[in-house]
Amino acid sequence: MDLDALYKLTHGLYILGTMDGNRPVGSVVDAVMQVANKPMVVALSCNNQSYTKECIEKNGEFSLSVLCKGVDPFVIANFGFQSGRNVNKWENVDYCIVDNMPYLNDNIAMIRCKVLQSIIYDSNTLFIAEVTDSKNNKDCEPLTYLDYRSYFKEEVMKKFQEVKQQKEKEKMAEENKNEGKHWVCTVCGYVYDGDVPFEDLPDDWVCPLCGVDKSFFELQ
Ligand SMILES: Cc1cc2nc3c(=O)[nH]c(=O)nc-3n(C[C@H](O)[C@H](O)[C@H](O)COP(=O)(O)O)c2cc1C
Repeated sequence: MDLDALYKLTHGLYILGTMDGNRPVGSVVDAVMQVANKPMVVALSCNNQSYTKECIEKNGEFSLSVLCKGVDPFVIANFGFQSGRNVNKWENVDYCIVDNMPYLNDNIAMIRCKVLQSIIYDSNTLFIAEVTDSKNNKDCEPLTYLDYRSYFKEEVMKKFQEVKQQKEKEKMAEENKNEGKHWVCTVCGYVYDGDVPFEDLPDDWVCPLCGVDKSFFELQ
């Protein structure tokens, strides 16, 4: 099979969003298309490892934020290169919640969908969903998957590396700041020297000398 032939099927690029309880989750998707207009129906294909997919299966709804060609490449890296299982991706971008669905503020259109049907393949789950709300926002050309493959991917990778390195630097600076310091009980002066890092002790842990809780300890 010649995969390059399949890349010639053109797609847009969207931020897919949904809710995991009270927490917004989401990912980048290109596999979206309108498949009927009465009712207004779209098809969305999610890969089966995606956490966003799991959450859509639970709550039956999702949002699409349509991206503009000028979108910050970090947005793609943030939503496409890490999983909502470990990261709160929406915290890293400007977003809004409309009727309990998250959207990227920097969108050119917002589309809300309710799942009608799903078809499960070995690799992907295809959601057939009705459009229940939509809003056209900005007049800007939509970003396509072809843009991503032909020039945008490099910028996205670069941005992701920059942000990762910056985070590592901040983590190291924080660790160095704490080096040589100890958590000390401000009530009785007990110095914590256990094997478990102080931050990882359970909330109900208490000072073994005077019995006060963790909040009475200071890094000194
Ligand atoms: C350009 C691009 C297009 C993507 N298209 C899709 C897609 O159509 N469907 C899909 O499930 N994942 C797609 N992905 C991958 C997901 O965005 C990625 O696996 C993400 O980390 C999943 O996060 P989650 O586990 O929080 O759902 C795409 C990623 C990129 C960078």
